[in-house]
Amino acid sequence: TEYALTNGYCTVKILNYGAIIRSFCVQTEDGLKEIVLHYDSAIDYLNDEYYLGATVGRVCGRIENASFVLDGKTYILDKNDGENCLHGGYNGFNSKFFSAKTVGDSLIMTLFSKNGEGGFPGDITFSVTFSLVNKGLKIKYHAESTENTPFNVTNHTYFNFGDTFNTEVFIDADMVTPVKANLIPEGFLNVENTPFDFRKFKKIGESIDSDNEIIKICNGYDINYVLNGKNFRKVAAAKHDKLQINVYTDMPAMQFYTGNFLPNNPQKGLKRRGGFCFETQRFPNAVNNSEYPSVIVKKGKVFDSETIFEVVRTEY
Ligand code: GLA
Repeated sequence: TEYALTNGYCTVKILNYGAIIRSFCVQTEDGLKEIVLHYDSAIDYLNDEYYLGATVGRVCGRIENASFVLDGKTYILDKNDGENCLHGGYNGFNSKFFSAKTVGDSLIMTLFSKNGEGGFPGDITFSVTFSLVNKGLKIKYHAESTENTPFNVTNHTYFNFGDTFNTEVFIDADMVTPVKANLIPEGFLNVENTPFDFRKFKKIGESIDSDNEIIKICNGYDINYVLNGKNFRKVAAAKHDKLQINVYTDMPAMQFYTGNFLPNNPQKGLKRRGGFCFETQRFPNAVNNSEYPSVIVKKGKVFDSETIFEVVRTEY
């Protein structure tokens, strides 16, 4: 089932499968403009391997060796990315049917994830609420668990202004978490004098193929930014062709991913690097790495978080 939210300026379409953002259209001088990658058919969503527009959980990003120890117990997860667990494993939120209801102007999608699902402890009751704010989309996440459990949710929309290379990006972050060959982050890296510095608007294409070791491992940008500041704030932006996306979140981090794994498949509307993701999140693999802030949701406690993707028209 597809739901549409509209306010005359933007229209966002959301599927009950994966709580997927299937379409994000904005009214421009030249008519409605689609700014996200999407598929035409439902089957393509069922077969999708690239998380197009999906809500991603229980734990987004990679968990090294698909295992972790919590409260003295070892948990074994799905190895769906080499030796690692990616985006919650084979039965992640992206592949679930959500219950949907509308309350006022909001669309609330709810999911129950059973204790042991994907190998994770605790029953999780999760909801994601979509609503339109003046010029964009607000995404609110809520989760509760019956056990201590790692939890990290994101949205995997690929924004596409028609030309990823010439899209200019800003990310308010002095540091990234550099990755090892298996794409697992370790430590911290200051972005100064690296291709990862987006503290001023810079074209994605400028350093996407630089011979920086980490860029080569990732085949472009696929890295977790340690966002400056705390609480709800503007953290990133992207602009091209008179449109600008602004990203606001209360999350501490954001994966900037330039679709390096997307295949060249014109029939499905896909192209390598044909879009880019601003995945607001908590730190990847934090459950195995004590130098990163904890992602454990404690038994009986709640997780609440909010991200806004705002789209404004610019003149430049
Ligand atoms: C995330 C990861 C990427 C890739 C995509 C899905 O963005 O960081 O490495 O796995 O998801 O294709």
